[in-house]
Amino acid sequence: MALAALFITACTTKTESLIRRPVIAHDSHSYANPELVRVRHLNLDLNIVFEQQSIQGTAVLSIEQYGHDAKQLILDSKALQIDETEVSADGVKYREARFSIGASDRTLGAPLRIDIAPDTKFVKIRYSSDPTATALQWLAPEQTADKQHPFLYTQSQAIHARSWIPLQDSPGIRVTFEARIHVPAGMKAVMGATAMNNCGNPDDCRFVMEQPIPPYLIALAVGDLAFHSTGPRTGVWAEPSVVGKAAAEFSDMEKMLEAAEKLYGPYRWNRYDVLVMPPSFPFGGMENPMLTFATPTVIAGDKSLVSLIAHEMAHSWSGNLVTNATWSDFWLNEGYTVYIERRILEELYGKRRAEMEAALGYQELQDELKSNPAPDQILHVDLTGRDPDDGATQIPYEKGALFLGQIEAAFGRPRFDTYLKDYFDHFAFQSITTAQSMAYMKSHLFDAKPKEPKAGEPPVALRKVDVSRLGVDEWISQPGLPATAILPVSDAFQAVDLAAAEWLKNQKIKTSQINISQWSTQEWLHFLHSLPQTLSPANMHRLDAEWHFTETGNDEILSQWLLMAVRNRYEPAWPALETFLETVGRRKYVKPLYDALDRKHAIAIYDKARPMYHPITQNTIDALLAAKK
Ligand code: BES
Ligand code: ZN
Repeated sequence: MALAALFITACTTKTESLIRRPVIAHDSHSYANPELVRVRHLNLDLNIVFEQQSIQGTAVLSIEQYGHDAKQLILDSKALQIDETEVSADGVKYREARFSIGASDRTLGAPLRIDIAPDTKFVKIRYSSDPTATALQWLAPEQTADKQHPFLYTQSQAIHARSWIPLQDSPGIRVTFEARIHVPAGMKAVMGATAMNNCGNPDDCRFVMEQPIPPYLIALAVGDLAFHSTGPRTGVWAEPSVVGKAAAEFSDMEKMLEAAEKLYGPYRWNRYDVLVMPPSFPFGGMENPMLTFATPTVIAGDKSLVSLIAHEMAHSWSGNLVTNATWSDFWLNEGYTVYIERRILEELYGKRRAEMEAALGYQELQDELKSNPAPDQILHVDLTGRDPDDGATQIPYEKGALFLGQIEAAFGRPRFDTYLKDYFDHFAFQSITTAQSMAYMKSHLFDAKPKEPKAGEPPVALRKVDVSRLGVDEWISQPGLPATAILPVSDAFQAVDLAAAEWLKNQKIKTSQINISQWSTQEWLHFLHSLPQTLSPANMHRLDAEWHFTETGNDEILSQWLLMAVRNRYEPAWPALETFLETVGRRKYVKPLYDALDRKHAIAIYDKARPMYHPITQNTIDALLAAKK
């Protein structure tokens, strides 16, 4: 969509919001009918049944109707078994209501239609989830760190909440919720919400989320979990053997929170805790409110991978407070978050570190631009008819962050900081479209007039910016990067480039200015990345003999090294490769490895590893191997 058209859509939205019926951006990934009836609150009472790999219980939905034409509440559902539906006008007296389930789509699931009356305010659904639920991973004790108890966790983003709760599963439809969770003895439930008790009695774990959140942020985990505080508002949950290490690794969280608040205004979610997941977690991190879910692969022992925590924490502003209205607007979540993540890193660890992270991100962006067709290279991407998880490439992340970096450079950091803080205040607890966000940027930044000076104060001079030269339309709706993009540079990496060139020439690095023993993880990552894709067997051996990559405890470095090992058939690394693929389910690591392996070797490893992976990773690798010749 051209920028002019985006602005027009935004204006329409504004006038319509004057009438009572809320304006909700059309979301092609939901069956819901929010223009007629909307879910505002959920009351969940759920049993966690490990033996059946099923969540069973009731959801009471508080609904709001607009006019009298609704007749049906249409919910999203995916592989849910619905036992009974009831409706009520007062939340006390219920009567049975008819329901039907429509045709099921592989990605979207099926619409669940429940008959309602004009006076219906509550809808109660008795249901259970299926073992194939795409949001859920049920782990046997052997698949956990401590191997004593089973483990369950949810991953609702993008549209998997519907596989464990019947609801209007669109990021534009925010809900509050309360939940009572029943877990087996010896286990604990945690949710991205405020815990109302310490879950000491497994039959009485209660949670409340008072802030309206999009459904993709509803999260639950059940396991043998321990807690370790890292500050007044922050802490870590993990299996008992992991929690101490995790708390040490993430001991800067409190400072990160303070840095983010100083820049972008108050943290509005009470606590910020992190739950360290079993290694099969398909993502690096997931910004569930109050309780980020994080892969254990970021525990490197030296805090070198904590940018992930900065990232998920940044979502407390960009994403959780101000949310993408549809999955086409995903860059509003991730692009803003990557920009903020690097600002937090800069505050805590300095400019040099932030520049290295940006340069690594830019490398990933270049690779991603090469492997994605033009329509997927634009920020406001069209995902109609597709799985929104397919939109999660590096493009919304890194191209989005570069775009904001360019706006920052044009207007100056102080002004852009003030702008962003106002933006989060203005849209707090709302879900917005690309059009709305750009309309706000136009009125509050591009066209902003200097504020009237107070009596006695000198007038504030605003820097004149030629907005037409920013190529805003190009950023949002054109593939690739605009010619005007400001590309990240890192002085630290220039030294690494020299070292890599020298090593390739002499298999040694002896330049006195280069102190390899002081290199950080980021420098090692860049070093590996800057070597040619094809290396001789002798060179692979030399690299490993000198720096022991095969034995590194840093999974980010290991995954990159293993990729080089596969590409160059470096067999000494294969046992490590197999162990890695059989324990780690993080999609970003395992996908490129299976992709690089030849079909026979890939299938041999995958046969053993598949049961350990989350359905999201299984789907990705199933598809990859099916397409592989
Ligand atoms: N919200 C995302 C994870 C996500 C995106 C889940 C789309 C499902 C669909 C999270 O904030 C994220 O971006 N995680 C990254 C790590 C981050 C440091 C870039 C990841 O998991 O790799
Ligand atoms: Zn993110």
